[in-house]
Amino acid sequence: MADITVIGSNMIDLTAYVDRMPIEGETIEAPEFSMGFGGKGANQAMAAARLGSDVNFITMVGNDDFGKQQLANYEASGIRTDGIGIGHQASGVAPIFVDPTSDNRILIIKGANKELTPAVLDEKVELIKNSKLIVLQQEIALETNYHAIDLGVKYGVPVLLNPAPANEDLNIDYVSKAAFFTPNETELATLTGMPTNDLDEIKLAAENLISRGVGNLIITLGSKGALWVTAGHSEIVPGMKVKAVDTTGAGDSFIGSFSHYFAEGEDVPTALRHANQYAAMTVTKKGTQKSYPTKTELADMLVQPV
Ligand code: RIB
Ligand code: NA
Repeated sequence: MADITVIGSNMIDLTAYVDRMPIEGETIEAPEFSMGFGGKGANQAMAAARLGSDVNFITMVGNDDFGKQQLANYEASGIRTDGIGIGHQASGVAPIFVDPTSDNRILIIKGANKELTPAVLDEKVELIKNSKLIVLQQEIALETNYHAIDLGVKYGVPVLLNPAPANEDLNIDYVSKAAFFTPNETELATLTGMPTNDLDEIKLAAENLISRGVGNLIITLGSKGALWVTAGHSEIVPGMKVKAVDTTGAGDSFIGSFSHYFAEGEDVPTALRHANQYAAMTVTKKGTQKSYPTKTELADMLVQPV
């Protein structure tokens, strides 16, 4: 039995570190480029695996070199690959632009990720039902996520839905069937249609979702940490201040590490505190999965925070 089943996307990240973005019609030179493994599903699977979870990843790669590299990457990291299919379209890729303030702009070309349909999940149902937690994001079809939530409910496996990237079409009826729902401030605003500019506004929007049946709402606040809201309880778990160089995939590292700590048996606030630490360490290094520490590397980094 795997600890965690992640159902979602994989991408090859093509990252340009830019001094500034070009304007229309302009060509400018960027000082640095880096290629690495990404995709929100793959990133979350990798964070949990690096920390020692037994992870089952259900995704679709392309029948191309990038697809082969993705498979080799999961195998090298001990992620189970029996849930990975090879599609007809090209592997997903993500051109990314990181500016000198460490913020990013991301384009995704989903490719084979679009072939991860509800029917594919039915073929993998034995893998899915034999896990402690199902983890979902939104770089695959909403219908596939809805089906995954239904499977989780049917087989009694709790589901964590990370609604990234934001999709205003997300059906709230499905959200309330998930054990954990983890939007950031922007995604919370998209979903509720309410402003989320400060903590008071965020709490009001959170109450709105709780009243619509969401069980555990975890609102990620970047370097400020996370707000955990359930019916009748709300608690901020503060983040860690570090010098950021590249925030790409930090949110995914937070979700993947939270899933690991929760599946390991930690209570929610403890798992959130540990996930904050994990995510903080990843922003101190360039790249997406490249910057995700193993359990041992994490311990070293926390002794000497950057
Ligand atoms: O969340 C970061 C990820 O978003 C990147 O790895 C990129 O591939 C996109 O999926
Ligand atoms: Na990073």
